Amino acid sequence: MSATIIDGKVIAEKVREEVRLAVANMQQVHGYAPGLATVLVGEDPASSTYVRSKQRTCEQLGIRSLGYHLPAETTQKELENLVAELNANPEVNGILVQLPLPKHLDEEAVLNKIDLAKDVDGFHPVNIGRLAMKGRDPLFIPCTPAGCMRLLEETGVTLKGADAVILGRSNIVGLPMAMLLQKADATVTICHSRTKDLQAHLKRADVLIAAVGRTEMVTGDMLKPGVVVIDVGINQKEDPTAKRGYRLVGDVDFESAKEVAGAITPVPGGVGPMTIAMLMANTLRAAEIALSKK
Ligand code: GUN
Repeated sequence: MSATIIDGKVIAEKVREEVRLAVANMQQVHGYAPGLATVLVGEDPASSTYVRSKQRTCEQLGIRSLGYHLPAETTQKELENLVAELNANPEVNGILVQLPLPKHLDEEAVLNKIDLAKDVDGFHPVNIGRLAMKGRDPLFIPCTPAGCMRLLEETGVTLKGADAVILGRSNIVGLPMAMLLQKADATVTICHSRTKDLQAHLKRADVLIAAVGRTEMVTGDMLKPGVVVIDVGINQKEDPTAKRGYRLVGDVDFESAKEVAGAITPVPGGVGPMTIAMLMANTLRAAEIALSKK
């Protein structure tokens, strides 16, 4: 049996279309379009590509994009001053500081300074705290986990009572994902490099979120038949036939996993397109919050 392929490109386009329509409506009714400030420090090639892609998507959806590119040697004070300036700027609804920051900068201190109502990444400790707590809701949910939830929802996956296993405990994906799945009434297990018997956990999983960044580490024989697999990994795998000498693969071996899983996201074309789409949705929400305060 071959799994249903969860098409992130199609679902991301649906999200972008929802945002595009809502932005056009906001423009018409309020004469106002959402604005996103992106802050990139240094020259990390992957980060530069991501930020460019975020800016391009803004333009496609009618969202104003304000780009700030600071040199790698920017000081903590300079970066925090920029965040303060963006907090005070009414033209800016969302602030995105691209991570990782260069090593000499204190990421926690910077994220702490972002106005809660402009925290479109959902990384502010108050937003994360609310996500963790019962009966509380954050203003914004981190984009990649929010994208994974939307993929599960669009696929019609039942989360209530499901055994969900998350591979990886990063602040950006694993941790918020665990909190979201728990809020959706799944029974959540977080597995990581010190987990004693990964195989035993995987064999029980009705839903697997793989977010460790290790090339094809999960193979079909490790999975429970019918499991829904969301593969967040984006890894380079050597491939002499590819133009760049490598191709992108996930944390899950797609070919063997699709023979066992009930549904699975491909890499590329699964979770990847969802992250930016959800960022656009969060930016729209930030503008709605700003308008509601006027
Ligand atoms: N680096 C990798 N993913 C993300 C993300 O979702 N937001 C930010 N700001 N940086 C990232």
